[in-house]
Amino acid sequence: MTMSSFWQPVALSRDLPPLVVMPVSAFGRDIALWRSAQGRAAAWADRCPHRGMRLSHGFVRGEALSCIYHGWSYAESGACLRIPAHPDLTPPEAIRVPIFPLAEVGGLLWVGDPEAGEPPGPPPDPGALEPLRSLAVSAAGIAGLAQGLDGFWRGRIADVAVTAASNPRPDGGVTLHVLTEPAPVAARVQVSRWLERLRHEAEAA
Ligand code: FES
Repeated sequence: MTMSSFWQPVALSRDLPPLVVMPVSAFGRDIALWRSAQGRAAAWADRCPHRGMRLSHGFVRGEALSCIYHGWSYAESGACLRIPAHPDLTPPEAIRVPIFPLAEVGGLLWVGDPEAGEPPGPPPDPGALEPLRSLAVSAAGIAGLAQGLDGFWRGRIADVAVTAASNPRPDGGVTLHVLTEPAPVAARVQVSRWLERLRHEAEAA
């Protein structure tokens, strides 16, 4: 297994500030990606152990994530901390959210394959670049974007060096996480517009 088959890029770090939870997917699984008040990021199965509500609809308080439905809250380890309907109960150890391997490298958040054992190493590092945007493209054709040996697509758009990491989507398309070299705002806007056209053309094809 290569590093890039163990790790899948799920978001730009910039798009997950403290106290935010968002839904992503990797390895065909729904994942709740969240960041605590102190800045620790985590990737969990997007399903509350109580009655299955999506944890990505929940809310972050301090270093814990709480479910929106009945308010059960879970510690960073995934263990249940508190059940509001039974405030005097210490939740059993068995109530626990499955956790995915997570790494933050090169301005990207990477989720590891939960069934692949220990990671073979850290995710690939795209280098010191600036995050531009993530772009979901619901077209299988774009999955053929030629990638380098390290798993990144690299090219020049509007005379700006662009690097993209792609993550397969359940609908057969991909989510592109795009970074650029430092460049003027106007040039980065042009890159963003070019990507919009790429999405439009790929989805119309
Ligand atoms: S479904 Fe999450 S607390 Fe009930």
